[in-house]
Amino acid sequence: MFEPDPMPARLLLSWYDAFARDLPWRTPPGSQARPDPYRVWLSEIMLQQTTVAAVRPYFAQFTARWPDVDALAAADDDAIMAAWAGLGYYARARNLLACARAVSLRGGFPDTEEGLRALPGVGAYTAAAIAAIAFGRRAVVVDANVERVVSRLFAITEPLPKSRPTIRAATDAITPVMRAGDFAQAMMDLGATICTPKGPDCPGCPLNAGCLGREQGVAAELPRKLPKKPRPDRRGTAFLALHDGAVLLVRRAGRGMLGGMWALPDDGWAAGQDGDGMAPFTADWTRADGTVDHGFTHFALSLSVMRAEVATRRNLPEGQWWPLDRIAEAGLPTLFAKAVRLALCDTAD
Ligand code: ADE
Repeated sequence: MFEPDPMPARLLLSWYDAFARDLPWRTPPGSQARPDPYRVWLSEIMLQQTTVAAVRPYFAQFTARWPDVDALAAADDDAIMAAWAGLGYYARARNLLACARAVSLRGGFPDTEEGLRALPGVGAYTAAAIAAIAFGRRAVVVDANVERVVSRLFAITEPLPKSRPTIRAATDAITPVMRAGDFAQAMMDLGATICTPKGPDCPGCPLNAGCLGREQGVAAELPRKLPKKPRPDRRGTAFLALHDGAVLLVRRAGRGMLGGMWALPDDGWAAGQDGDGMAPFTADWTRADGTVDHGFTHFALSLSVMRAEVATRRNLPEGQWWPLDRIAEAGLPTLFAKAVRLALCDTAD
């Protein structure tokens, strides 16, 4: 469908040699030294659905505390979940640990796309990215940036997600054998800095001469997307129980949403249902004004927050009592950190 074409990679790699973003998991463009597979893997997991700016401080903290995959594999689950708090999509943190332990056990990362794909939390995109960036394998790496750049470059007007096989075939046709990792990262940089979602800066683009989208005047409209289903709204309530300057935190169960994370007790809201508004235990609850509104992938949550001083710590759900003045260190997901803030500023008199 697409003839192999070496020209885009040539132009793009020259541009990358001059303008590559300096990111902490990278080696400089064209470098003979390959980047550390551990750092590449960790960055790719963190960058799933998450911006470079949000990832930077987490990447710095993780690599300082756990400098290699064996150190991460030996960490407590709790320490990892708390360190991940605020980055979202917590299944990634659970898989991160499972993957680190599997890799540590087998004595290092597999160096093929297929071997990487078999690891927990490593999907098709991530396996291709690690194979190319860390091991220099020719792999076809397609993330959202690449989808945009390639849709424009080849004027692919069919909407996403139907256009994915076409985009993949087009990306395959321009992926080089040499420097496949630099090529993948150059495509990402181009998508993040020049061929952006807001609109392409065609005069600044190294691929402008051969860009069909630009030639046909449709680049800014691409990629087309099928309309998304609206996210359902859900309601729920969280309960802030206080005793002696400490707040009751409970562990959310298993592998579900926010699973394994510390949380406030709740009224049973979950991805598929509203909460029933009922407190999990009796106390003199007062409702904070307002709600915490939080977007999850598949629904939007409007969370009410109730607060009460409780007379005793006995006969309450199992959990831990965390000092309120150190609540920032509790490792709460953003949703519950916001809920604590709402309950405290609002009823603090
Ligand atoms: N997004 C995902 N992986 C990336 C990488 N290696 N560099 C820049 N942005 C990315």
